[in-house]
Parts: sequence; C-alpha cells; structure tokens
Amino acid sequence: MYTIKDTNLIKIPKVHDERGALAVIEKEVLPFAIKRVYYLYDVPSDSFRGGHAHKEQESVIIALSGSFEVIIDDGSSRKRIMLNKPTQGLYIPTHIWREIDNFSSGAVCLVLASTTYDETEYIRDYNAFYHLKGEM
Ligand code: TYD
Repeated sequence: MYTIKDTNLIKIPKVHDERGALAVIEKEVLPFAIKRVYYLYDVPSDSFRGGHAHKEQESVIIALSGSFEVIIDDGSSRKRIMLNKPTQGLYIPTHIWREIDNFSSGAVCLVLASTTYDETEYIRDYNAFYHLKGEM
C-alpha cells in the first residue's frame, strides 16, 4: 500500500549556458513510461485543483513556470510541498490523494501521466478514498 513516503522529488537534468537553460526528461529519469502529458495554465491564484487519487495512474508534477503547492495525502498522513523549479518533478504513485493550490501568477503545472485519460480510474471523493485506504 503506497504512502506519502513513496512520493519523491525527481531531479530533472538540465543544460545551462549563456543562451538559457534546457531541461530534458528521458525515460531513465521516470519510474514509468509516459502515456499522456497535460498542463494547467491561466490558473487563478485562489484556484484549487486536483482533489482526487488514481487507481491506475502514476504521475510526475512539474512547475514549468511560477510556483504552486501540492498537498499529498495517504489517508493517514498529509504533506504540503511547494514546487517552484522546472528541474524538479514530484512523483506520485497510485492511491495517493493530491490537491494543488497557491498558484503564483503565470504558473504552469505540467503533469506527466502513466495512463491515458480514464475517468473510471479516478477517486474523487475523499471519504471513499479514506475508506479504500483503510481496506488496503
Ligand atoms: P480535473 O481532473 O478536474 O483537473 P485537475 O485534477 O487538474 O483539477 O479535470 C478537469 C476536466 O478536464 C474534467 O472535465 C476532466 C477533463 N480532463 C480530460 O478530458 N482529459 C485529461 O487528460 C484530464 C487530466 C482532464
């Protein structure tokens, strides 16, 4: 059963010279093969995103621009992590509740996902998540 200890910050390699920075994600950096990429942008600062867990999907969340905070919760423990570097990715395994808030102006939240979109593998009700974790 995954806990928030199974989440971790992945360092994304970068090449930096006087022309700017280039970060690169090759398959060796990730614990899963990417099936989908999506991103949140134009997010109002008081917006609250996420509010779900996944039965199948593993994710890596990256603040491509600006900053925001990710709350991760395994039903027993909860932790708040600020993401503000495009070279840092937060890995979240399955069955971890996540919420995202405190978006800075211009923040872009990139999500690398191990699955294609399937609403049936979402757990969007915290109580249902909590009870499921208790049974695992
Ligand atoms: P939602 O899961 O609420 O986004 P977040 O977790 O970032 O707050 O998704 C918003 C809407 O977008 C919802 O109607 C589902 C849809 N959606 C897709 O169609 N495809 C996708 O890959 C994702 C992530 C969401």
